[in-house]
Amino acid sequence: MAVARVACRAQVGLHAPLVHVEVSLASGLPVFCIVGLPAMVVKESKERVRAALLNSRFEFPAGRITVSLAPADLPKEGGRFDLPIALGILLASGQIRAPADTCRTCVTREFYGELGLTGELKPVRGLLLAAAHAARHGHELVVPRANAAEACVVAPAQVRAAGHLLEVCAHLTGAAPLSPCPLPQRGADEGPGRSVLLDLADVRGQLQAKRALIIAAAGGHSLLMIGPPGSGKSMLAQRLPGLLPPLTHAEALEVAAVAAVSSAGFTPQCLGERPFRAPHHTASAAALVGGGARARPGEISLAHHGVLFLDELPEFERGVLEALREPLETGVVAVSRAALQTQYPAAFQLIAAMNPCPCGRLGDPAGGCRCTPAEVRRYRGRVSAPLLDRLTCTSRSRGWRPPSSTPPRVQGQPRSPPPAASPARAPCNSPASSGAMRASRMRTCSAGARWMRPGSGYSRRRCDGGDSRPGTPAGAETGAHHSRSRRRPGHQRRASGRGSAVALSGSRRRRYCAICTM
Ligand SMILES: Nc1ncnc2c1ncn2[C@@H]1O[C@H](COP(=O)(O)OP(=O)(O)O)[C@@H](O)[C@H]1O
Ligand SMILES: [Mg+2]
Ligand SMILES: [Zn+2]
Repeated sequence: MAVARVACRAQVGLHAPLVHVEVSLASGLPVFCIVGLPAMVVKESKERVRAALLNSRFEFPAGRITVSLAPADLPKEGGRFDLPIALGILLASGQIRAPADTCRTCVTREFYGELGLTGELKPVRGLLLAAAHAARHGHELVVPRANAAEACVVAPAQVRAAGHLLEVCAHLTGAAPLSPCPLPQRGADEGPGRSVLLDLADVRGQLQAKRALIIAAAGGHSLLMIGPPGSGKSMLAQRLPGLLPPLTHAEALEVAAVAAVSSAGFTPQCLGERPFRAPHHTASAAALVGGGARARPGEISLAHHGVLFLDELPEFERGVLEALREPLETGVVAVSRAALQTQYPAAFQLIAAMNPCPCGRLGDPAGGCRCTPAEVRRYRGRVSAPLLDRLTCTSRSRGWRPPSSTPPRVQGQPRSPPPAASPARAPCNSPASSGAMRASRMRTCSAGARWMRPGSGYSRRRCDGGDSRPGTPAGAETGAHHSRSRRRPGHQRRASGRGSAVALSGSRRRRYCAICTM
């Protein structure tokens, strides 16, 4: 009976435990079995290995072939075990011989790669983690050529890249050793500066919302933006990564490790880029916090050290939003599934956006909102108070309209008055925004990181004095919501539900400033 042993690594969450692929050849009826909790894709490697060996002009041994993936109780998945299994069969059957110290050579070298039927090596997922662990133990890695750049990020000196099973065999026997991969050369258009960061200067007006974004960026605060559709909330959120400092090398590697184990995989060109994740509001809890049969990282982990943007916040399912509460506090998420329990980092900056009411036109100077106070309250109540409590900044903005060209004046008609300056585009120190500025300054100074807690007397601090819209008489807002509110002067925010309640101003005219608590 002949036995050979080849080293490889499995992947469990963000760990890459060493796996010994042991191959035993024995006489008997032809059987090829793989033991050691192989997933279906690992079991299927029998067919790939057989075809690859035969098409590479090796012999497939007759008799009983037993492949053991040790440790036996560790689940194995992926096509990465194809190459070690094929090498184990070749070594055990004596078709290739490593120089003298066969056993030692194969344990200080790790082999990864999925085999094509002709013997070519195909890339595998999550190699960055395996390379990081192998480098820590000083092991050499033989990887598919397509994975070389990924592995070189963490273990540049130890990586050998091959494109075919025959190249690996020649390297192992010493006939044609593979040379170390060259260090990755970063071009001017690659790396952290590769993707063009969006510029905050593209956003016109919205001075207070911009200021809120800058404060959120400086302090790492989570931010809720409330404004009508088309007011630039998404635009602002997309520009947050451009305001944040570059990732440190350690942070960049953490981000890369999470990306490497995700279904999307890691692209070496993206190393050092701050993540910006914007999942659709139909996302499930598992998609957001991680899960699935393989306990993959979710959006919050993919946004680690970056930005998670939840547009249309009230449209997310309640349970999905509630799942964010613990990771927002702890910066990690524990994903438990029947077969696997693991922990992923989730230190993300949450930026959320929502409309002021279901139709989005509440507060629009042009009017048009027909939402009842109950509808508005129900809409805003979809975001729970505990979650609002974790959103440390809130920015409220009015609609933005592109500057329209002045219509030609008809001869004989009086000159039309100049258009009223939009408060959203007024300079910070103008009367139009002074109230908002005062309010936001007060909050910024008084409470540090938790500078705007929705439950801490915010109704008193609501900014309601700054927005003097020229041409709009006091109490002249349109919309059923406001006229109804005026009829009920005592109607104030709900007593319960701290953050989710909305101050439906009754006796006083509700005004819209760029930064205001809910
Ligand atoms: N303040 C602004 N400055 C420049 N363009 C804007 C502004 N607000 C909105 N826009 C334009 O309107 C489009 C829609 O804006 P968006 O950010 O999607 O709005 P929202 O997310 O608030 O619905 C943008 O792509 C941009 O072209
Ligand atoms: Mg939007
Ligand atoms: Zn409305």
